[in-house]
Amino acid sequence: MYAPSILGGDFSRAGEELRAIASSGADYAHFDVMDGSFVPEITFGAKFIEDCRPLSDLIFDVHLMIDNPERHIERFVKAGSDRITVHAEATNHIWRVLAMIKEAGKEAGIAINPGTPVSFIEPVLPFVDYILVMTVNPGYGGQRFISHMMSKIADLDSRRTENGWSYLIGADGGIGKKNIKDLYDTGLDLAVMGSSFFSEDDKASYIKELDAVINGSAS
Ligand code: DX5
Ligand code: ZN
Repeated sequence: MYAPSILGGDFSRAGEELRAIASSGADYAHFDVMDGSFVPEITFGAKFIEDCRPLSDLIFDVHLMIDNPERHIERFVKAGSDRITVHAEATNHIWRVLAMIKEAGKEAGIAINPGTPVSFIEPVLPFVDYILVMTVNPGYGGQRFISHMMSKIADLDSRRTENGWSYLIGADGGIGKKNIKDLYDTGLDLAVMGSSFFSEDDKASYIKELDAVINGSAS
């Protein structure tokens, strides 16, 4: 599965970018919310997602790179998010935040920065719907993939199998044709892509090409 990030597109043409994501065959639209505190950049808040909601039937995958996300969950739920992912490093109350998301009937995701080990989120692994392994330092699109993060994906995949857990595993940052097969072979379910997706003119062909690379049928 693929989640193109609108961060790689043009915010002033959000409706067109969402249509381009949908017609490419991707499954999700990924929204990168940055607060200028947890990460240096500021992008947009819940209103942007709310305004985009009527424009698209895509699954809205909202990645909150914000401090103390518990203050804003209700607002992002109302805005029309389908999945809300919060950072393990951004709150002292991760269990409470994840419970708030689930109680609102949305999928609850947890993201970990490159410097955060899988063991840090061990207590919530049986409880979460989704785990997002940051494969760059969060804050900017277009950065280089940190290959050391592959071991976290392998670890999460084997823990899932051993314990019968059902979370999906995502990776975010620096993903494209070069590393997609390794990621999927290691246990990845969902690739977030900003720059590699939006730099393609023919996005549907790009998604087909990625599928072919993953299946080992690329020419
Ligand atoms: C980074 C964001 C990513 C970003 C990925 O902080 O969370 O979702 O848009 O962009 P690329 O694919 O360009 O690394
Ligand atoms: Zn993201």
